[in-house]
Amino acid sequence: MAKISQNVLEDIKARLSIVDLVSQYLTLNRKGDRYWGLCPFHDEKTPSFSVLPDKGFFHCFGCGKSGSLFDFYMEMEHLTFPESVRALAESLGIQIEEENPQEKRKRNEREVLSELYTKLAFSFHYILTDGPQAEHAREYLRGRGIDNETLKHFQVGYAPSDPSWLYSFLNKKNYSDTLLKNSGLFSRTGSFYPLFRDRIIFPIRSWKGEVVAFGGRDISGTSKAKYINTPEIPIFRKREVMYGLHEALAMIKQEDSVILCEGYFDVIALYRSGIGNACAPMGTSFTHEQARLLKRYASKVHTLFDSDHAGKEATKKALIVCEQVGLEGSVITLKGAKDPDEFLSRFGSETLSRTAGTATAGFDYLVHSAKLVYDSNKATGKLQILQELTPYLQAVDSHIVRQTYLHELSRHLQLDESALLHDFNQESRNTPGMKGEREQTAHKEMPQDINVAHVPTDLYLMLIIMNNRELFARVRNRVPIGSLQDSRAVTLYTLLENSLRDGTSSSDELLLSMIEDENLRRLVVSSFVHDEFTTQAEKSADELMNRITLRTLKREQKKIEHLIAIAAREGSSEQDISQLLYDKKGIDEDIAVLIRKSIQ
Ligand code: CTP
Ligand code: MN
Repeated sequence: MAKISQNVLEDIKARLSIVDLVSQYLTLNRKGDRYWGLCPFHDEKTPSFSVLPDKGFFHCFGCGKSGSLFDFYMEMEHLTFPESVRALAESLGIQIEEENPQEKRKRNEREVLSELYTKLAFSFHYILTDGPQAEHAREYLRGRGIDNETLKHFQVGYAPSDPSWLYSFLNKKNYSDTLLKNSGLFSRTGSFYPLFRDRIIFPIRSWKGEVVAFGGRDISGTSKAKYINTPEIPIFRKREVMYGLHEALAMIKQEDSVILCEGYFDVIALYRSGIGNACAPMGTSFTHEQARLLKRYASKVHTLFDSDHAGKEATKKALIVCEQVGLEGSVITLKGAKDPDEFLSRFGSETLSRTAGTATAGFDYLVHSAKLVYDSNKATGKLQILQELTPYLQAVDSHIVRQTYLHELSRHLQLDESALLHDFNQESRNTPGMKGEREQTAHKEMPQDINVAHVPTDLYLMLIIMNNRELFARVRNRVPIGSLQDSRAVTLYTLLENSLRDGTSSSDELLLSMIEDENLRRLVVSSFVHDEFTTQAEKSADELMNRITLRTLKREQKKIEHLIAIAAREGSSEQDISQLLYDKKGIDEDIAVLIRKSIQ
């Protein structure tokens, strides 16, 4: 890692408070000297994520994740420490000095890709609106009833059919062949054959608005693939991006709800009907990552998937995902059309807008659709309905809510509630499925929160010192590094020693970034938010140092007693023995002093 200057970190912190940064991602509420919100790193319904503005740290009491403003940004944006510092510095207009070539290459690649996609989206859009070669594309879109304002809002474009156009266009703009090869814009065969030819282009944006990919719809009618999307590239993670989210963000916040539909034209159809809070996972099922992303801005999700079998399956899955991340899920059903786009062209915007306003609660929808498939009058049918609902019920976090649902289900199936409960528990054991995923991830992400009673003496001391750096000088005088037994304590000692030499000791972030062991890093970070390491630090440190010194002295005492025994047995000289006895007396006295001190 190239060295990042202390000043840059300080500058960033001076200009951007951790509260402001975190607030860009989730809603925080103040209580006393802390802020609280729903943790973005694990699924929860009651806030256990806290931000301590004075200390500049966050800590989640649910999953144990904690750290500085930089840690938060690293985690949210999937960046390394240097990348996150650079990105933050840049966004705040802070100058930073040179980085190493590898970092520079990586950062450059992302930046250049992002710039490339943004520019290209602009060019594709320009071609669609003004290019002579896009006449049939304009015709196509007119045929689908899409007006210019809508095209502009989504920056819809057109990719020319001439296969040589894209490369020469980008080559003229001085993009290197290496970059273009990895840009996801050309086929992987090596030649610069463009992926998108004679297609309507939908720019896909991150929630922040950067173009990170394209979706392209064939209009030639001759392609085997109706749609193609940009493959995964460094700036595009399909699982974490939703089409239309950026464009819909303001409305989503305002409505506190999101309409989830299947595709590009559906988002657009809803927009045209005055419904601005729609977005779409692109051709894949709704992921947990996407759900968490939505949860930053709204608490409710209304699914509006296609009315075919696949759409119904997608609805069921999405409802489970919503439950798992703590979003309230409900379902909008379309009658008489396959999807919102078709619905709009058939029944008009008013009817679509009215229909989109009526959603059925997720649980009711699931019971109702299961009852359409299975015969709820027969025992086997009842069991099948229960099986159908089990993954959803398992995803429900609250016992009260689940109990209520089970109660309702028992009425629907005309069953005794205790019988249903018994079978549900049985089914649950057989269906590890969806619930399993949450428990596993929750477990995996759960770092050990500090159990103060179990932190060994040496480590405890060093954690106190990490929290009170001015006390390190005293430790250096009294506790030589060789007397530490805990390897983590040794790591921290060395770190402080080095940073003292480099003059970097004042920054928590920099120190943290130098700890390679992930668990130790987390431990240190969580020590920053536990009062135990700061209140009466001096006194505690003294006590701990005494304990360590006592331990070292006792070890030496044993050693010397052993030597004396050997010397006596082997008939060593009087002089040697008396020297040993003299040394032992010194140690005995030191020990006595320490013990006396510790009981005072
Ligand atoms: N999709 C995709 N890749 C495919 C097929 C579909 O990414 N090969 C995504 C697109 O986002 C598409 C959505 O899934 O918009 C829904 O697909 P589909 O229902 O087949 O298309 P429509 O949206 O109905 O498209 P159109 O109205 O143009 O036929
Ligand atoms: Mn369609």
